[in-house]
Amino acid sequence: MTYKAAVITVSDKGSRGERVDEAGPAVAELLTNAGFDVTYRAIVPDERADIGRELIKCADELDIPLVVTTGGTGFSPRDITPESTLAVVERRAAGIPEAMRYESLKITNRAMLSRCEAGIRGGTLIVNLPGSTKAARENLAAVVDALAHGLQMLREPQRDHG
Ligand code: MTE
Repeated sequence: MTYKAAVITVSDKGSRGERVDEAGPAVAELLTNAGFDVTYRAIVPDERADIGRELIKCADELDIPLVVTTGGTGFSPRDITPESTLAVVERRAAGIPEAMRYESLKITNRAMLSRCEAGIRGGTLIVNLPGSTKAARENLAAVVDALAHGLQMLREPQRDHG
């Protein structure tokens, strides 16, 4: 089963065209290589309303099974992607950021500074990644192989998932 995916880059500078978005394309490429069909991309500023609107659009309107965000997960006062995500999900999926931080801590102790969250809204899984291209790649690589199985349980509950 090929699942559709969306990539949302959260960046003030990126949304104003003052910085080229490298993390978004890198995340999209990694998802494509893992078998996902990336059908939607967006760049939004670090604003709760903008982030929330995109997440809800991807989930409720576009019915995209996997939505991955990159950026806005650190400690800067404008980093509010995790809070914006928690505001729209119905159930948290804490194991995903736990696994990302577990693997990332083997690479850098700064991984503990990522406040990434993951959760489920309807039939959509939302996963936060950090903003740097390197960190986004490393965090996604730590979990991407398990995501399709989670989406199968979410989207095809009648099937035997073995
Ligand atoms: N995880 C991995 N695997 N590699 C990294 O280089 N950088 C960390 C962390 N997680 C990093 C990482 C740093 S320095 C920060 S501040 C947080 O992710 C949050 O990043 P963000 O503010 O760009 O979202």
